[in-house]
Amino acid sequence: MAKFIINQTKELKGKIKISGAKNSALPIIAASLLTEGETVIEEVPNLSDVKTMCELVKVLGVKVKFIEESNMLVICADSITNTVAPYELVHKMRASFLLAGPLLARNGYAKIPLPGGCAIGTRPVDLHLKGLAALGAQINQGHGDVEVKAKRRLKGTKIYLDFPSVGATENILMAAVLAEGQTIIENAATEPEVVDLASYLISMGADVKGAGTDTIKINGVDKLKPTKYTIIPDRIEAGTFMAATAITGGDIVLENVVPDHLKPVSAKLREAGVEISEELTSIRVTSSGKLKAVDIKTHPYPGFPTDMQAQMTSVMSRAKGTSMIVETIFENRFMHVGELKRMGANIRIDGRSAVIEGKSKLMGTQVKATDLRAGAALIIAGLAAEGTTEVENIEHVDRGYVKIDEKLRALGVEIYRVE
Ligand code: EPZ
Repeated sequence: MAKFIINQTKELKGKIKISGAKNSALPIIAASLLTEGETVIEEVPNLSDVKTMCELVKVLGVKVKFIEESNMLVICADSITNTVAPYELVHKMRASFLLAGPLLARNGYAKIPLPGGCAIGTRPVDLHLKGLAALGAQINQGHGDVEVKAKRRLKGTKIYLDFPSVGATENILMAAVLAEGQTIIENAATEPEVVDLASYLISMGADVKGAGTDTIKINGVDKLKPTKYTIIPDRIEAGTFMAATAITGGDIVLENVVPDHLKPVSAKLREAGVEISEELTSIRVTSSGKLKAVDIKTHPYPGFPTDMQAQMTSVMSRAKGTSMIVETIFENRFMHVGELKRMGANIRIDGRSAVIEGKSKLMGTQVKATDLRAGAALIIAGLAAEGTTEVENIEHVDRGYVKIDEKLRALGVEIYRVE
């Protein structure tokens, strides 16, 4: 397992470019299965999760070429020769379940191992399956697999999501674009990545209205066509570097961002005393490193993103005062807290809440990443910790951050990767 060695950093200074959004790339690769012909996707982040998704669709018979130097993906789904997703790939990445909707719409059949849980929660897919069944799919679960099939073309209908699940919204959206008639998804997720997927589908000829609101209306079409599309920047990667600057102090510029997508994160950091100025496609973050404690409660977009909760827990361990962070989305997303306490953070977990006594002195030590954002939180803590911090199991971090060590070095951080 690889690790990062990180020395305490006085302040971050400099400019970096944010990569394309992981949580847009994954559903958009799945959606490419909805048409034949050659599709070109730009600003695809060179991440292990993206590579896994490409491996997966290759197993299904799709031709995929990732031109790494230009972050361009060329996909050709002329023939889908296999509709059974292999366990070893699905187990690695639960987003594999996003293949269900496109395979069902294109082939009328998909067999996908149940993604199973991960470090942050059980991650059920009941809302995905309820939506696909409402469109006319037959669902058979057994022996750890889910089989979805439809003898006839899917039929549009009204679907109310008990929870604005991002994945369920995306799976239903991808199945509905080729269904007969109109589908209305109510209480839909409004995340920017859902909007990005909808824009991609529209560029393929889909008829989708209302993406980004809680009601999405889809009028099914007979056929979609290949397209060329550029993915939005990764708001969570940007937020992670904003949090890093907040904890160490400094003055950085993030290029290739959509400031609007970062509103909840910027609002919280401003409340904590960080200065943030926004341009059209860039954000400047200035901090003295002296922060006020703020309370945070995660919510579906446009609330504070759960994917930034761990990073902010690290930041608040250095702020002046006591902060309360409530994680309302996932049932087990405080795995980073144990490791932060080993570094000297003063945090008490009470159910879904973390009470953080600030101004604790963080000391460098060896810590382990348990999941993607926990790894990011430990790197952030390592920047502020005295001495040297070793973050192990950084394969988790590679899933969601393109060359995070290179980008941090460009901002003045002494960080090295050891395989
Ligand atoms: C997406 O996961 C993201 N992943 C997650 O990012 C992100 O944390 C999450 O949305 C919330 O924003 C991708 O887009 C690939 P959900 P997803 O369905 O779709 C429950 C990261 O770090 N739920 O909105 O799985 C579920 O258990 C990752 O980049 C059901 O109960 O999230 C969870 O408690 C982590 N039944 C809540 O909803 C379902 O059928 C949110 O899940 C589906 C979900």
